[in-house]
Amino acid sequence: MIIEVERLRKEFNGVVAVDGISFSVERGEIFGFLGPNGAGKTTTINILTTLLAPTSGTARIAGYDVVKQPEQVRRRIGLVPQEVVLEGDLTARENLIFHGMLYGLSRQQIESRISELLDIVELEDRAESKVRTFSGGMKRRLELVKVLLHEPEVVFLDEPTVGLDPQTRRRIWEYIRTLNTERGVTVFLTTHYMEEAEQLCDRVCIIDHGRILDIDQPDRLKHRLGEGEMVEIELAERCEEFVRSLGEAGYRIKSATGCRVTVVAERSERVLAEVFSLADRLGTGIVSISIRKPTLEDVFIHYTGRSIRDEAAGDTRIREIARRLKH
Ligand SMILES: Nc1ncnc2c1ncn2[C@@H]1O[C@H](COP(=O)(O)OP(=O)(O)OP(=O)(O)O)[C@@H](O)[C@H]1O
Ligand SMILES: [Mg+2]
Repeated sequence: MIIEVERLRKEFNGVVAVDGISFSVERGEIFGFLGPNGAGKTTTINILTTLLAPTSGTARIAGYDVVKQPEQVRRRIGLVPQEVVLEGDLTARENLIFHGMLYGLSRQQIESRISELLDIVELEDRAESKVRTFSGGMKRRLELVKVLLHEPEVVFLDEPTVGLDPQTRRRIWEYIRTLNTERGVTVFLTTHYMEEAEQLCDRVCIIDHGRILDIDQPDRLKHRLGEGEMVEIELAERCEEFVRSLGEAGYRIKSATGCRVTVVAERSERVLAEVFSLADRLGTGIVSISIRKPTLEDVFIHYTGRSIRDEAAGDTRIREIARRLKH
């Protein structure tokens, strides 16, 4: 195990940011921490990268304790933090040189790697441009290869694609896969994008309020919800009665916010028939119906009763009814 974490806890003046988490990551894995804002993702990364001392518990990287052997740890890791930390007035090449020198590499060692690294992220032709002229995606790409200069065994990526357009996001995923498969780098990343966790990670740890809700391969997490499809229904009115009736009819309601209800069903056509006849009986219109496969978002809702995206959204009253019906 290249990362070993045991009962790790971090408190900030009485606020528990990380609440006694334990997990481990195998060498060569792409491991993702998936959770909403404030879940404790950055705090965990900061502890694992020796930037922050834990309140209690232990963490080891490649066998070295992050508190007792920080130098040994730092030599083996690379960190791409949530905020960009490039020097805008330096060129791409100068930024890499600067970073390499911080790690004690010789000028020659650095120069010999620069073009190869810039090539990975397709920035070779911008090597002599000042970084402040770069787009957000270009900066992110430069940061990604910057951490490879000192040939780390593990890289920590804190929200690697936040704020980027879908196309740039996909390219960054490709680069992350490349560092993992071609260079054998273990990747620990945090994200609040379900799709990112699903597409990229070998295993995902779902975290909320500083606690681990579950850890597994994305497919296996989804199978926890049971075999079947998600039927999403949006109603025009009489939503509360509708949800209650569906529940009483024995359907597994996964979530209900406002007039949107999600039901898990092995045979979605049976649900559809029931939905239409129920709407008819209540005299309400159906705004939309869709059928889809479960996602990690559904897994998160399953554990927390709320969406990872919009904490505050939704009608709590209906959600409460749905919760009671589930139990
Ligand atoms: N330096 C600090 N002082 C006080 N509280 C902090 C500090 N850093 C983090 N926290 C608190 O710890 C909790 C977890 O924060 P953290 O930054 O780890 O969350 P996160 O999962 O990275 O969220 P985001 O997705 O918004 O980046 C939050 O409640 C936050 O307010
Ligand atoms: Mg964060």
